[in-house]
Formats: sequence, structure tokens, C-alpha cells
Amino acid sequence: MRRPASTATGRRYPASLIAGLVGLATWLTLYGCAPGPGETTRDGTGPAIYTRVPPPPSREQCMRCHPTIAHLLRTNGGRHARVDCRQCHLQFHTFEPGRTRREDILPRCTRCHDHPHGPVLTRCTSCHQEAHTPLDIPAGRALANGCYVCHPKIDKEIKTFTTQHTRLYCTACHHTRHGYKPRCTQCHQPHRGTPPMAGPIRSDRAALDQCTNCHNPHKALKVRFPADTANTTCGLCHRNAYTQLRASGTKHAAFRCVKCHPGQHKTIRRCTQCHGEPHPPRLTENYRTCGKCHGVAHSIVR
Ligand code: HEC
Ligand code: HEC
Ligand code: HEC
Ligand code: HEC
Ligand code: HEC
Ligand code: HEC
Ligand code: HEC
Ligand code: HEC
Ligand code: HEC
Ligand code: HEC
Ligand code: HEC
Ligand code: HEC
Repeated sequence: MRRPASTATGRRYPASLIAGLVGLATWLTLYGCAPGPGETTRDGTGPAIYTRVPPPPSREQCMRCHPTIAHLLRTNGGRHARVDCRQCHLQFHTFEPGRTRREDILPRCTRCHDHPHGPVLTRCTSCHQEAHTPLDIPAGRALANGCYVCHPKIDKEIKTFTTQHTRLYCTACHHTRHGYKPRCTQCHQPHRGTPPMAGPIRSDRAALDQCTNCHNPHKALKVRFPADTANTTCGLCHRNAYTQLRASGTKHAAFRCVKCHPGQHKTIRRCTQCHGEPHPPRLTENYRTCGKCHGVAHSIVR
């Protein structure tokens, strides 16, 4: 059986590549450095066309032959998108494997930037791996070793408030690119369903999904509660205290938990911080705590 002629087109190449190669071939034929057989050189002895130093390609021409780089600069080049190719590439198309070193012809960052991060972070391209998208910095060893230089407060914080997170590299969590922030649930189950919390107080369960309302990842166990935390939120984990207080029928029952347990989790305000010394010393001197007569705080005896 014969194929229809229209499909017998063989392999396809991207038009840009073909255009690029044709363009380069033309350019090299007209102006190339290496003289072909029978041609004269640029030393002025040959025909005039060969003595003229060719104008360098325009930015548009560079971009047409290097579409990938043009795309990077256009979409994510930041302020490098405004720098002309040739301001950076003083030399190009001169690379000869074995004769030149790549790093000798490729631009150096420090020609334009004077060590912006100080004396420690000097191997620019170990972090800025793609010069045409300089702020798109993949997570890697060099970046991981640099976090503490630029984020000293967080580095100190995570070491001061030791938790299991202290053992982790910053990049264990910030693991894709610089600036990436993970969700806690990539590594943790939400509180819902874990034993002490399973129970009937469901109304505010959604409050437990907002991990960072309560936890700072860099001091994960230093939980702080805002003054408007609902009692039902505490009740998700402290069912006894919640139900006992509600059932007590005292004036305390109308309180928010955080009135007596303000700010930092596990803080306990003492009775006397609000009541002062309500009784004459004679009455209380033989009792070590108020609770000896008034019972538990969540269900005081009047
Ligand atoms: C801000 C400076 C800067 C600008 C602007 C810039 N480049 Fe680059 N370019 C570099 C650096 C630095 C490298 C080397 C990256 C590396 O070490 O791998 C590079 C690498 C390249 C390479 C790859 C070389 C290789 O063999 O890997 C090409 C091709 C290139 N640039 C083309 C262009 C073109 C075309 C433009 C303009 C549209 C441009 N560049 C704009 C700095 C720049
Ligand atoms: C006519 C097409 C064409 C034009 C125009 C062109 N290039 Fe190239 N360029 C190539 C090809 C083909 C290569 C070799 C293959 C590759 O590395 O992509 C190359 C390689 C490079 C390299 C790699 C290392 C080297 O120097 O040999 C750099 C850097 C580069 N070009 C920069 C530029 C810049 C900057 C411009 C504009 C001023 C430019 N090119 C214009 C086709 C072109
Ligand atoms: C030819 C000069 C030149 C070279 C070489 C150069 N840059 Fe730049 N770079 C600039 C200019 C100009 C800006 C814009 C600065 C401004 O607007 O204040 C810039 C901005 C940047 C920015 C900030 C980008 C943004 O969008 O805010 C980064 C990051 C950067 N450069 C990194 C590098 C790195 C890494 C290298 C080496 C791979 C490099 N640069 C090489 C000229 C250069
Ligand atoms: C350890 C990784 C690392 C090294 C090494 C590094 N950088 Fe950066 N650089 C960064 C990060 C991260 C940013 C911040 C990006 C942001 O603001 O989102 C940055 C920002 C920049 C900026 C833009 C903001 C500013 O401070 O002006 C420039 C320019 C820059 N780097 C240039 C350089 C140059 C030049 C070198 C080499 C001398 C270098 N960087 C070495 C990680 C690094
Ligand atoms: C060269 C300095 C530098 C290095 C190295 C560096 N950072 Fe940054 N980082 C910055 C700057 C500057 C900003 C603020 C940029 C902004 O506001 O967009 C920033 C912002 C961030 C942000 C917040 C982004 C946001 O949207 O709020 C995270 C997360 C971050 N860095 C994590 C890291 C981690 C993790 C490391 C090490 C793996 C690291 N950084 C290394 C300079 C650096
Ligand atoms: C990349 C994974 C990862 C991410 C993301 C992560 N954690 Fe963890 N976290 C761990 C590991 C590992 C432990 C050690 C205990 C374990 O294996 O569960 C831990 C332990 C904890 C602990 C107990 C600490 C201790 O010392 O007992 C808390 C609290 C915690 N994480 C909260 C969070 C919160 C809140 C977030 C989001 C802001 C978060 N974690 C994000 C990996 C992660
Ligand atoms: C257990 C996971 C984890 C580890 C380890 C971790 N981070 Fe974070 N980090 C996060 C999460 C989650 C956020 C987002 C917090 C938010 O959204 O409020 C964050 C936010 C940040 C921010 C943005 C500013 C801020 O405070 O919200 C910076 C900067 C940062 N981390 C740097 C670091 C550095 C530096 C290290 C290592 C010393 C580190 N982180 C270690 C999980 C982690
Ligand atoms: C309403 C506040 C609050 C919210 C929201 C919250 N937590 Fe917690 N979390 C706590 C408290 C309080 C503890 C107990 C701390 C202690 O033991 O000192 C805790 C303990 C933890 C622990 C360590 C003990 C354990 O159960 O393994 C992890 C891990 C944890 N939370 C992860 C998360 C994650 C993930 C989220 C979001 C899905 C989250 N938390 C949301 C308050 C909260
Ligand atoms: C995510 C679960 C969780 C939430 C939400 C939670 N706690 Fe806790 N709480 C704990 C755990 C776990 C302990 C430690 C129990 C232990 O050590 O036996 C604890 C302990 C306490 C303690 C006892 C301190 C001590 O020294 O015995 C108090 C008081 C307390 N919480 C108050 C609150 C208040 C008030 C709220 C709401 C604002 C709240 N908790 C929200 C899990 C939680
Ligand atoms: C009138 C002040 C007051 C209020 C309101 C209050 N507490 Fe307490 N709570 C205390 C005191 C004081 C203690 C210390 C133990 C004691 O003296 O009985 C305590 C102890 C605790 C403990 C640890 C011992 C235990 O009983 O498990 C938890 C958990 C607790 N409270 C949670 C809560 C929660 C949740 C609420 C809100 C539903 C709440 N508290 C409301 C004063 C109060
Ligand atoms: C955050 C402040 C605060 C704390 C802590 C506190 N109380 Fe009270 N208590 C009050 C207020 C306000 C009232 C109501 C007074 C009124 O309406 O006259 C009250 C009322 C009472 C009453 C009268 C109850 C009633 O229903 O008539 C007793 C008894 C009492 N408190 C004992 C205690 C004891 C014992 C403690 C320690 C376990 C304690 N309080 C801790 C603020 C507090
Ligand atoms: C020896 C037992 C005893 C001790 C100890 C004790 N109380 Fe009382 N308290 C009572 C009695 C009995 C009453 C009710 C009689 C009254 O109204 O004077 C009372 C009433 C109160 C009232 C309510 C007063 C009113 O106006 O309704 C408050 C508030 C109170 N006590 C707080 C405290 C505090 C705070 C402590 C610890 C510093 C404490 N008590 C220790 C026995 C005690």
C-alpha cells in the first residue's frame, strides 16, 4: 500500500532552528573568521567585501537565533530583560573546545555587580544558576549554605526554640526554589482525627486547618493564641476543661479561655492576678491555694 504523499514529509525541525542555522551559515560565509579554500583574509589584501568588519547582530537577531534564551529573558528575566545581550556578552561565537575555556568568554557577574551579598557569598552562579532568569534560584547545596547569611534572625530563631524542626535543613521545607513556602500538610496530618481531638465539638474544627495562625514553623512549639481565640478551638483538644467550664454556671463560664490563659499556650493566670487578696489573711492563712476552698478553676465552688 502506498502512503498518501502529504504525510511522507519525514522529520520536522523547528522553523527557528532552521532559520538560525541558515542565518549562521550565511553570516559565517559572509563574515566568518576562518577563510575557506581559495578565499582571502581580512588583512586588506582581498576583495573589499572581506575587509569590512561586519556589524554585530542586533538584539533581535540574537533573540531569533537563541529563542530559548529570549523566552527566559522575556518571561522571567526581571531587570536583566532590560540589559542588552552584548552589554553582558562582550565576546560570543568565539568558543573553541580545547582552545578556549567557556568561563573566559562568558560574562562575569562581578563586572557589573560588586558583591552585593558581602564577602561570603561570592560564587554567584552556584545560586544564580541561570543568568537570564537571575531571581529564579533553585534550591541546592550552595543556596542552603547561604540561608543564614541573609536570614540570620530566622536561623537564630529555629536554633533557639529547639523542636524537631531544628534538625531539618531549611531546604527540607523550602525545597523547590528560593522563596518557596511549603504547606505544613505536605508533611503533617491536620489535627483532626488524632485521638485527643476526636469528639463532638466540631463547629470550629476548620480553625485547626489554619496551621500558621497558631504555629510559627521556625518555633513550632511556641504556640501563641490571639485574644479572640474561640473557646471551641481550645475545646477541640481540651474537651474536659471546655465542658466543665460551660457546665459550671459561675461567672467564669462566660469567659474566653484565653482570658485566664492569655498569649503563649499553657500560660496560667493566677486567681490573685485578677482578684487580689479578696479575703482577710486570717481566713486563708491555713490554706495554701484558693482551690482548697473553691475547687478546680473551671468549676469553682462559690
Ligand atoms: C545580564 C547579563 C546577560 C544578558 C543580558 C544576556 N546574557 Fe547570555 N549569558 C550570560 C551569562 C553569565 C551566561 C553564562 C551562564 C553559565 O555560566 O552557564 C550566559 C550564557 C548564554 C548562552 C549560553 C552559552 C553556553 O554555551 O551555555 C547563550 C547562547 C546566551 N547567553 C545568549 C544570550 C542572548 C542571545 C542574550 C540576549 C537576548 C543574552 N544572552 C543576554 C549573561 C547574560
Ligand atoms: C544566525 C544565528 C545566530 C545569531 C544571530 C546569534 N547567534 Fe549565538 N549562536 C548561534 C549558534 C548556532 C550557536 C552555537 C550553538 C549553541 O550553543 O546554541 C551560538 C552560540 C552562542 C553562544 C555560546 C558560546 C559561544 O560564544 O560560542 C553565545 C554566548 C551566543 N551564541 C551569544 C549570542 C549573542 C549575544 C548574539 C547576539 C549579539 C548571538 N549569539 C547571535 C547562532 C546565532
Ligand atoms: C552587563 C552588566 C551585568 C552583568 C554582567 C550582570 N548583571 Fe545582573 N543586573 C544588571 C543590571 C543593570 C541590573 C538591574 C539593576 C537595577 O535596576 O538596579 C541587574 C539586576 C540583577 C538582579 C536583580 C534582578 C531583578 O529583576 O531585580 C540579579 C539577581 C542579578 N542582576 C544577578 C546577576 C548575576 C548572578 C550575574 C552573573 C551571572 C549578573 N547579574 C550579571 C547588569 C548586569
Ligand atoms: C548563596 C546563594 C547566593 C549566592 C552565592 C549569590 N547570590 Fe545573589 N541572591 C541570592 C538570593 C537568594 C537573592 C534574593 C533574591 C530575592 O530577593 O528574592 C539574591 C539577590 C541578588 C541580587 C538582587 C538583589 C540585590 O541584593 O541587589 C543581585 C544583584 C545578586 N543577587 C547578585 C549576586 C552576585 C553578583 C553574586 C556573586 C558575587 C551573588 N548574587 C551570589 C542568592 C545568592
Ligand atoms: C543572598 C541573600 C539570600 C539568601 C542566600 C537566601 N535568601 Fe531568602 N530572601 C532574601 C531576600 C532579600 C528576600 C526578600 C525578597 C522578597 O521580599 O521578595 C528573601 C525571601 C525569602 C522567603 C520569603 C518569600 C516570600 O514570598 O515571603 C523565603 C521563604 C526565603 N527567603 C527562604 C530562604 C531560604 C530557605 C534560604 C536558604 C535555602 C534563603 N532564603 C537564602 C535573601 C536571601
Ligand atoms: C518538610 C516536612 C515538614 C514540613 C513542611 C513541616 N514539618 Fe513539622 N515536622 C517535620 C518533622 C520531620 C518533624 C519531626 C516529628 C515527626 O516526624 O513528625 C516535625 C515536627 C513538628 C512538630 C513537633 C515538634 C517537636 O519538637 O515535637 C510541630 C509542632 C510541627 N512539626 C509543626 C509544623 C507546622 C505547623 C508546619 C507548617 C508551618 C510544619 N510542621 C511543616 C517535618 C515538617
Ligand atoms: C519545618 C519546615 C521549615 C523549616 C525547617 C524552615 N522553614 Fe522557613 N518557613 C516554613 C513555612 C511553612 C513558612 C511559611 C510561614 C507562613 O506562611 O506564615 C516559612 C517561611 C519562611 C520565610 C518567610 C518569612 C516568614 O517569616 O514568614 C523565610 C525567610 C524562611 N522561612 C526562612 C527559613 C530559613 C532561613 C530556614 C532555616 C534556618 C527555614 N526557613 C526553615 C517552613 C520551614
Ligand atoms: C488553634 C491552634 C492550632 C492550630 C490552628 C494548629 N495547631 Fe498544631 N498544635 C497546637 C497546639 C496547642 C499544640 C500542642 C503544643 C504542645 O504540645 O505544646 C499543637 C501541636 C502540633 C504538633 C505536634 C504534636 C502532634 O500532634 O504531633 C504538630 C505536628 C502540629 N501541631 C501540626 C499542626 C498542623 C499541621 C496544623 C495545620 C493543619 C496545625 N498544627 C494547626 C495548636 C494548633
Ligand atoms: C491542637 C491541640 C491543642 C489546642 C488547640 C490547645 N491545646 Fe492546650 N494543650 C495541648 C497539649 C497537647 C497540651 C499538653 C498536655 C500535657 O502536657 O499533658 C496542652 C496543655 C495545656 C495547658 C496545661 C499547661 C500545664 O502546665 O498543665 C493549658 C492551660 C492549655 N493547654 C490551655 C489551652 C488553651 C486555653 C487553649 C485555647 C486557647 C488550648 N490549650 C488549645 C493541646 C492543645
Ligand atoms: C477563670 C480562669 C480560667 C478560665 C476561664 C479557664 N481556665 Fe483553664 N485553668 C485555670 C487555672 C487557674 C488552671 C490551673 C489548674 C487549677 O488551678 O485548677 C487551669 C488549668 C487548665 C488546664 C490544665 C489542667 C486541666 O484541667 O486539664 C487546661 C488544659 C485548661 N485550663 C484549659 C482551659 C480551657 C480550654 C478553657 C476554656 C474552655 C479554660 N481553661 C478556661 C483557669 C482558667
Ligand atoms: C482573668 C481574671 C480572673 C481570674 C484569673 C480569676 N477570676 Fe474569678 N472572677 C473574675 C471576674 C471578672 C469575676 C466576676 C466578678 C463579678 O462579676 O463580680 C470572677 C468571679 C469569681 C467568683 C465568684 C463566682 C460567681 O459565679 O459569683 C469566684 C468565687 C472567683 N472568681 C474565684 C476565682 C478563683 C478561685 C480563681 C483562681 C482559680 C479565679 N477566680 C480566677 C476574674 C478572674
Ligand atoms: C478558707 C476557704 C477559702 C479560701 C482559702 C479562699 N476563699 Fe474565696 N471564698 C470563700 C468563701 C466561704 C466565700 C463565700 C463567702 C463570701 O462571699 O465571702 C468566698 C468568696 C470568694 C469570692 C467571691 C466574692 C464575692 O464578692 O462574691 C471570690 C472572688 C473569692 N472568694 C476569691 C478567692 C481567691 C482569689 C482566693 C485565693 C487567694 C480565695 N478566694 C481563697 C472561701 C475561701
